[in-house]
Amino acid sequence: MRRITVLISNLGTGTNLQALIDEATTGYNGQIVCVISSKADAYGLVRAKQADIPTEIFDYTDFRAQGKPRARYEEELAQTLQRYSPDLIVLAGWKLALSQTFLRYFPWRVIALHPGLIPDRPGNQVKLPDGTYGDDYAGLAGENAIQALLAAGQTYAGSTVYVVTDQVDRGPVLARGLVKVEPGDDVETLYERLKEKEHDILLDSLHELCLEKAKSTR
Ligand code: GRF
Repeated sequence: MRRITVLISNLGTGTNLQALIDEATTGYNGQIVCVISSKADAYGLVRAKQADIPTEIFDYTDFRAQGKPRARYEEELAQTLQRYSPDLIVLAGWKLALSQTFLRYFPWRVIALHPGLIPDRPGNQVKLPDGTYGDDYAGLAGENAIQALLAAGQTYAGSTVYVVTDQVDRGPVLARGLVKVEPGDDVETLYERLKEKEHDILLDSLHELCLEKAKSTR
């Protein structure tokens, strides 16, 4: 069974975390061993506690208030996670960019979800089923990305599961999910449908990664 830690914040309400909790063990060969939030008021913390998963709060503003540099925050976050010996770290609504200071502890083992279409090659755009193209909305979090795609008149909304690198919202793509923008859609209706798709692509990715890991340690 692969050991998974999930990093969240108060950006969303932890629906992706809930999907991971609901499908752990049966849907993929994994177990969530800890949930860390950068904000104490993240609803995902309630979801984790209901599932008896250990939680920790790691708020960067507390570090800053104590005059500690960002690198120190990332070091301490990585060292806290190390205590749980994770095989995989999933960023599901995590807001802070992570640099090599953090990533070097877990090379190629940090994955994330982004509500934009990250291309396979930097500079490219992802082709949509109707032949138009979708943007990655890199750097725009949550509803802001959905708002931007509606404003741009994009015909499909999309999310990407990818391996985290030190470039914001860029990295090797594991899965993408698309939903068609319907007439009358607003941020709320569209994002709700996209989140359902996100749950599917996240679970599919975890399924593959947990199997890969199981194969490589055989
Ligand atoms: C997701 O849309 C994810 O793509 C983004 O943050 C959101 C978190 O949503 N990074 P939820 O809290 O899992 O509902």
